[in-house]
Amino acid sequence: MPKKRLLSGIRPTGSLHIGHYLGVLNNWAKLQNEHECFYFIADWHTLTTKYKDTSELQEDILEVAKDLISSGIDPNKATLYVQSAIPEVAELHLLLSMVTYQNWVERDPTLKDMVRLLAEDAEKAKEEVTYGLLGYPVLMTSDILSVLGELVPVGRDQVAHLELTRDIARRFNYIYKTNLFPEPKPLLTETPSVPGIDGRKMSKSLNNDIKIIDSEKVTKEKVLKMITDPKKIKRSDAGNPDDCQVAYKHYEIFADKKTLELVREECKGAKIGCVDCKTRLSELINNSFTNIRKKRETLKNDKEILEILDIGNKKARQVTKHTLEKVREAMKLKSW
Ligand code: TRP
Ligand code: SF4
Repeated sequence: MPKKRLLSGIRPTGSLHIGHYLGVLNNWAKLQNEHECFYFIADWHTLTTKYKDTSELQEDILEVAKDLISSGIDPNKATLYVQSAIPEVAELHLLLSMVTYQNWVERDPTLKDMVRLLAEDAEKAKEEVTYGLLGYPVLMTSDILSVLGELVPVGRDQVAHLELTRDIARRFNYIYKTNLFPEPKPLLTETPSVPGIDGRKMSKSLNNDIKIIDSEKVTKEKVLKMITDPKKIKRSDAGNPDDCQVAYKHYEIFADKKTLELVREECKGAKIGCVDCKTRLSELINNSFTNIRKKRETLKNDKEILEILDIGNKKARQVTKHTLEKVREAMKLKSW
């Protein structure tokens, strides 16, 4: 079977957390062996909501690059690059915006959710929602189509964007009588939903995350804060792992079957206290990240990371330049 071209992007939100690792990074690392992969850091996407304060953006890009590489994404296997280094993506965004109906963008449910989250009341949303944010699914489409990506590993919330991507690709091909663009498909992988230590979704902004680069000590401190079955207060109280919304959920992710059975028995039989139980959990989590954290330690030199990205940017541009030549040709534009 010929290798398919696969693309995915991640926003540079600073150091990534273990939810990113389990949901995205380990999947990317696996996929690089099966497909021709393009992975990029979506810094322009960050600007669609965080355009006012960009003071930490460059630092955040480097942090994410380090997390990606230490999590097993191999710049020799996959093309790892930065979105804003690829001017063709911006050009394609402009050109595709011409053929994209306004109501296609406005009906995008994920965008509607983002708008809702940005502001509770409609008036405020009007102020927060910029033209750039509205164009975000078209920008994502340009990321994908600029490298002629066929497969796009994404979370469920991004599937609607991909429908729009296919609509735009089809419409472009139809209008300009070409078959340049593929109709990219989402690659949905079932990934565990990882709760933050307070039980809400794990997220940097909620300050409830465990970071890939957290030390073993910090990891343990955070795990000890995880909420447990509220009925189990003392060691001698019997608990129920099914009511232990955070700590046991993490056990289910990080422990093997035998350990899970042991935890259930000890918890229900009041044989262990939550502190001991969570200490053991923190060891399991720490063990899972030992190698990644070790690798991360070796990536201290920012200059080296920038060089790796520079090579990736050049590799990606070879492809995107070619795509844009074809796009201009199809549209009867000139490549000046
Ligand atoms: N929109 C994605 C996110 O917010 C990131 C992203 C940008 C992306 N462009 C993409 C993902 C293209 C897949 C393909 O997480
Ligand atoms: Fe959760 Fe373990 Fe406490 Fe049971 S003993 S409630 S599984 S932390």
